[in-house]
Amino acid sequence: MTKIIDGNELSKQIKSEIKERINVLKDKGLIPGLGVVLVGDDPASHVYVRMKEKDCEEVGIYTETKRLPKDTPQQEIIDIVDSFNSDEKFHGILVQHPLPGHMDEVEVFDRILPAKDVDGFHPFNVGKLLIGDNTFVACTPYGVMEMLTRSGYSPEGKHAVIVGRSTIVGKPLAALLVQKDKHANATVTICHSRTKDLGEITRTADILIAAIGSPRFIKADMVRDGAVVIDVGVNRIDDPSRKSGYRLVGDVDYEAVLDKVEAITPVPGGVGPMTRTMLLNNTTLSAENSLK
Ligand code: GUN
Repeated sequence: MTKIIDGNELSKQIKSEIKERINVLKDKGLIPGLGVVLVGDDPASHVYVRMKEKDCEEVGIYTETKRLPKDTPQQEIIDIVDSFNSDEKFHGILVQHPLPGHMDEVEVFDRILPAKDVDGFHPFNVGKLLIGDNTFVACTPYGVMEMLTRSGYSPEGKHAVIVGRSTIVGKPLAALLVQKDKHANATVTICHSRTKDLGEITRTADILIAAIGSPRFIKADMVRDGAVVIDVGVNRIDDPSRKSGYRLVGDVDYEAVLDKVEAITPVPGGVGPMTRTMLLNNTTLSAENSLK
């Protein structure tokens, strides 16, 4: 029987651990706070931010979201980030990606103080990750690592193949998997759009991670029997039978690979909830660090 790695169930466990940590902070008079900036009208971003607010409320993190129209001048966003940076109520700051096209996203993200960068996007935190001195690890790669270790699929000594080299997922995940740590210690290969004979490489994966952003890209013949498959993709495809007119699928052809793999994450209900939970973890960690 294939094991379905349930991101909602794992998130529930981790959230209860986070709630306990927040209770300890509250006993010391500290409430963790997250400042969120959402610019524009991307429907998926609005859904994500609402879910993040709901998660924060559930575990006892204070949140404040600035929702701004897409034609907001960049300087206004920078001023908001600066005000969150200097406000002690906020231990974490999140600017929802993507920002509208006219903005320099890197400039905005880099404005967040590294000590409040709970997304783990700032070059300071990316550099720390690379040298193995992690503080804030980007939430999706962190969530993937937690899914593997907590469901008994330690990457140690395994060949992990990542398809996708993004700054938010592929590259930081490779850095985590290769770390000298009993929860990592994998041999890592990163594949991307220019990789030759992709299937030949993915078929050698003990752990295959799909982070491409292309619906059902990974087909059954690209997956080794008995592999552990982590699907990071979230793609909307048309589905007239749904009220919304669409449904979500991953980067893996789930139904086709299900019977040949040892374990797989579903979409939705896999990596997505874990990403959100790691944001709660990082915000709590930042509040804990503020007491040191
Ligand atoms: N958009 C999609 N994923 C993320 C994420 O992890 N952080 C932020 N800030 N925006 C996102």
